[in-house]
Amino acid sequence: MVKDGLPEEETLIRMLDRKRLPVHLAVIMDGNGRWAEKRGLPRAAGHRAGAENLREVVRFCAELGIKYVTAYAFSTENWKRPRAEVDQLMALLVEYLYKELDEMDRQGVCLRAIGSPNELPPDARQALAAALECTRGNSRIIVNLALNYGGRRELVEAIRRLGAEIKAGRLEPGEIDEDTVQSYLYTAGIPDPDLLIRPAGEYRLSNFMLWQLAYTEFLMTPVLWPDFGRAHLAQALLEFQRRERRYGGLNV
Ligand code: FPP
Repeated sequence: MVKDGLPEEETLIRMLDRKRLPVHLAVIMDGNGRWAEKRGLPRAAGHRAGAENLREVVRFCAELGIKYVTAYAFSTENWKRPRAEVDQLMALLVEYLYKELDEMDRQGVCLRAIGSPNELPPDARQALAAALECTRGNSRIIVNLALNYGGRRELVEAIRRLGAEIKAGRLEPGEIDEDTVQSYLYTAGIPDPDLLIRPAGEYRLSNFMLWQLAYTEFLMTPVLWPDFGRAHLAQALLEFQRRERRYGGLNV
């Protein structure tokens, strides 16, 4: 059966090679506003649909055995949006963190935050702290929410901390290698994303995971994030499995 021009979800899932799935999937949740506008709804309805879709994508990834999902929920640049939209996004975050807590726990989700979430409004910080604490013992799937996240800021913070270590005499500049830098990032200890999905027809990184995406496969699609369902994700994973990853080598 073909739905929206795609073979049915089950057919696509059966075609997947379960042994060659990405370990870490990163998503930029773009197109929520356009999704709402197309339906004559306020932008906040699009963000809500986007949050619902994140829940479905995480559930699907957990079923497939994908170990890490990182989702760009709020960037350091998103504060430039109208105050009302920022407030709605924060309210949505608080609502979902509380509403989804039991379900996340049942699904074995370990929630983590990357970015500078300490600068979020107090109620968001409180909801986040509760969700992180409640799910920290889970290990089926790690979900990193990028909140008040900026890739350049992440690098600046890492460089400052490295500088402080050097100044204190605990580190020699010549000792710093790629593993050292990695260990100073928000994603310390987490493998780099294997696949990045950017929906809504945009072709840019938007300051997302600048270090970590060095060898990541990119999949851009015109589908808006709230519409990016299981069948689209299965199709994206099939495309990922068709790619040959060479990491600068030749694979001969
Ligand atoms: C970009 O779409 C999306 C965002 C700036 C926010 C993404 C946030 C969510 C999906 C909600 C997160 C909430 C939880 C609970 C994790 P856009 O508004 O730029 O869309 P447009 O380009 O079509 O206007």
